[in-house]
Amino acid sequence: MKLIWVAVMLLVVSAQSAAEGMSAESNYILRCAGCHRMDGMGAAAAGVPEFPDSIGHIAATEKGRLYLLHVPGVISSSLTDQEIADVLNLILDRWGEGAASYFREDEVQTLRAKPVANVVEYRRALVEELRQQGIRLAEYPW
Ligand code: HEC
Repeated sequence: MKLIWVAVMLLVVSAQSAAEGMSAESNYILRCAGCHRMDGMGAAAAGVPEFPDSIGHIAATEKGRLYLLHVPGVISSSLTDQEIADVLNLILDRWGEGAASYFREDEVQTLRAKPVANVVEYRRALVEELRQQGIRLAEYPW
């Protein structure tokens, strides 16, 4: 029964993509949910941090916004700047608790072009900076 739903969903998604390009929802399902799950809870033990009560804080800082454009699933995706903005905004809509402003296409383009050498170290520094302000981000083992 579950498999039938997956098949139906994929048909709907592919019909949609043929018609009008991928929606943020389709992109999330196909390219992100495998690791981040449909409920945004990821898998902390496997190094995928949860979104709720965390992602909004990250996106509320300048450093955090640069970080978000350089996480592996985003920087290595073949999505356009607009599609990346849309899928990140969907994540903010669902789990950002209104803490941060939306991404725009030109901001995505600018931030993507800036280098971030080591994303894990970069996140650690960000976690520490926010911790000093009394804000705790989602944990993961790295
Ligand atoms: C193969 C698994 C995988 C896929 C697919 C994936 N991600 Fe991730 N994502 C990760 C991992 C691992 C991290 C933690 C990165 C790090 O080490 O700092 C992460 C971090 C993130 C974060 C920051 C969360 C935080 O608290 O640091 C966001 C936002 C994010 N991913 C968005 C996306 C989006 C959008 C997509 C789809 C376009 C996507 N990811 C696809 C594994 C994945």
